[in-house]
Amino acid sequence: MARTKSTYVCQSCGSVSGRWSGRCEACGAWNSIVEEAAPEGPPGGLSKSGRRGARRIEFVDLQGESEPTPRLVSGIGEFDRVCGGGLVPGSALLVGGDPGIGKSTLLLQAAAALGEQAAAIYVSGEEAVDQVRLRAKRLDLEKAPVQLAAATSVRDLVASLDRPDAPSLVIIDSIQTMHVDALESAPGTVAQVRASAQELVRVAKRRGFCLLLVGHVTKDGVIAGPKVLEHMVDCVLTFEGERGHQFRILRATKNRFGPTDEIGVFEMTDKGLVEVANPSELFLAERHGNVAGAAVFAGIEGTRPLLVEVQALVSPSPLGTPRRTAVGWDSGRLSMILAVLEARCGLVMAGKDVYLNIAGGLRINEPAADLAVAAALVSSACDRPVPEGCVVFGEIGLSGEVRAVSQSDLRLKEATKLGFASAILPPRRGGRLSPPEGIELQEMAHLQDLVARIAAQPAPDEPVSR
Ligand code: TYD
Ligand code: MG
Repeated sequence: MARTKSTYVCQSCGSVSGRWSGRCEACGAWNSIVEEAAPEGPPGGLSKSGRRGARRIEFVDLQGESEPTPRLVSGIGEFDRVCGGGLVPGSALLVGGDPGIGKSTLLLQAAAALGEQAAAIYVSGEEAVDQVRLRAKRLDLEKAPVQLAAATSVRDLVASLDRPDAPSLVIIDSIQTMHVDALESAPGTVAQVRASAQELVRVAKRRGFCLLLVGHVTKDGVIAGPKVLEHMVDCVLTFEGERGHQFRILRATKNRFGPTDEIGVFEMTDKGLVEVANPSELFLAERHGNVAGAAVFAGIEGTRPLLVEVQALVSPSPLGTPRRTAVGWDSGRLSMILAVLEARCGLVMAGKDVYLNIAGGLRINEPAADLAVAAALVSSACDRPVPEGCVVFGEIGLSGEVRAVSQSDLRLKEATKLGFASAILPPRRGGRLSPPEGIELQEMAHLQDLVARIAAQPAPDEPVSR
């Protein structure tokens, strides 16, 4: 009997090797290699005879008339914007996120909104139809025109969807539960995920429906089953947020039909996800003025300005190696700012525990937040509040210089809109900035200027004595 050939596939990066090993040589992941039945070889090489029956491809000019892409607009503004202005028919989207973050809720709401204008199908591989109905009831969407199915077989799905009367929107929740019966490996393995997605994407392209795939995220924050899937789809959205907070952020990390780095902000309520039209107000809602260790950062997420509070606590450490903890911000970048404060500004940070937190559970990746982080740290270390009604932004270089950042006008405009009266920012070069009226600009060329500015502040309010 012929032995079935096996290949060994890394479940983290998808690389294939001929033998098992404890560590993937391609991506370095440990214990990620799983044995899978080898796929059948490619159809006979491309010899002369192999070319028989092939069609000649028509090559065309780069310039040409194309129709503007029509879009399915759900009416959930935050969702549509992140997708680049609505869903494109024939495209495939992947929505990734931690378990329990609200992916199923978001997509059910989107299906209900889109179902009003186009036929929408929601296929759940994780929940029974009753469970989905229960959720719809909770969301007040039980009357929405959405067709449901609980299915996991890709063969059945393809047979049901590959028809001229295919719907306009198909949601698969989740791709890790789908399986192709031609493959022996278990659902959720790279081979299954890849094959299932390939089949479904092919049908979506042929029938012109929009395919939304839910993808789980592993412990390390990558979409399980994994990079291969990201290459296959047109758009990758990640749904993120801190468990304890009600804010949820939808972020586009890849988009063939629109900008990336666009975010949509939602709030998880007992009636499902609610759009947050003005996130700055929300992120600043619980701010208490005139306390040491807090600074308001004027950031940009995608095309949108966003004000958030950066909080820091610097306290004497009882430990030999002090703690450095950052939530919502890169801890390497925090160490760098602490080192610059120590080396260039003489602020002693050795022997101090440092905690940094971005309020509201937001994660910030912009280097432009450096100056706000430094302001919060200095403010806590000197026990002096950052000037009241002031926003901060700017990047910090290793010699302590404050460097210009992009889109200052937009940041200042948002700050003015929310009633901030001044801004600490990098020096303007050549007067290119046209600040909105009513905001006082305090330019800082060096981090020392910031330390001096904050140290000169009056002490915070005394606690009210009885
Ligand atoms: P869910 O959409 O099931 O998450 P995922 O599909 O990403 O795993 O959301 C689950 C969480 O959302 C659950 O902890 C309960 C909460 N939730 C609400 O707070 N309000 C609601 O209206 C709904 C439907 C869920
Ligand atoms: Mg779910």
